[in-house]
Amino acid sequence: MAILFNTNLWNRIRYTMLAPIYDIAAFPLRRGRRRSIGLLDIRKGEKVLLVGAGTGLDLEVLPADADVLATDLTPAMLGRMRKRIEKRKMTARAVIMDGQDLPLPSGSFDKIVLHLILAVIPDPVACLREAERVLRPGGRIAVYDKFLPHGQEAGLGRRGLNLFTAMWFSDINRRFASIQRATQLRVVHEEEAGFGGNFKVFILEKPLLPS
Ligand SMILES: C[S@@+](CC[C@H](N)C(=O)[O-])C[C@H]1O[C@@H](n2cnc3c(N)ncnc32)[C@H](O)[C@@H]1O
Repeated sequence: MAILFNTNLWNRIRYTMLAPIYDIAAFPLRRGRRRSIGLLDIRKGEKVLLVGAGTGLDLEVLPADADVLATDLTPAMLGRMRKRIEKRKMTARAVIMDGQDLPLPSGSFDKIVLHLILAVIPDPVACLREAERVLRPGGRIAVYDKFLPHGQEAGLGRRGLNLFTAMWFSDINRRFASIQRATQLRVVHEEEAGFGGNFKVFILEKPLLPS
């Protein structure tokens, strides 16, 4: 069953249904996203990529002078993002894109925001690898998401709950370490971001030289 629902097709369907209520549902997460973007320390004129940017809630937190490309798979989410950009007269560009296969040049972004996407996208390893590829050496990525806390096994209750959450909202049992291990990205900062240690912020850096 998980295989059926862990697909781009299902993501597009469910996020089309969730789009009208997304901003209200995501309201409790505003502090975490603010903190994560603050830690990313975006400088004037830097090129910033948002993957799975949804309705664009992060755009309100980003510095106004950043050069932002915001991407998402679901037209209904992206439509709301475009309205936000228009209404607030932002300069960000919003484009439909699969975060697992970015049609973007390697090394072309200074900073990347991966908020609430690694637990949603069908293949989180492919997503983080693509982010690593399009990031310039020395560039940084902010991850804000829910993961299985370090050293914890998913018990029966949590696995049962995940059958529901993974189908409708997000997987709650992915392990950040096993996703990050598939890349050369270095964790330069890590902190808990609420909800009993289930939400975390990670700042990752791409090495200047590949090892
Ligand atoms: C939980 S929302 C997060 C939205 C936003 N990043 C935020 O912080 O509010 C997950 C988003 O991922 C998008 N998504 C799902 N699969 C995707 C994929 N393969 N590529 C890009 N975006 C995807 C969904 O359309 C949805 O907008």
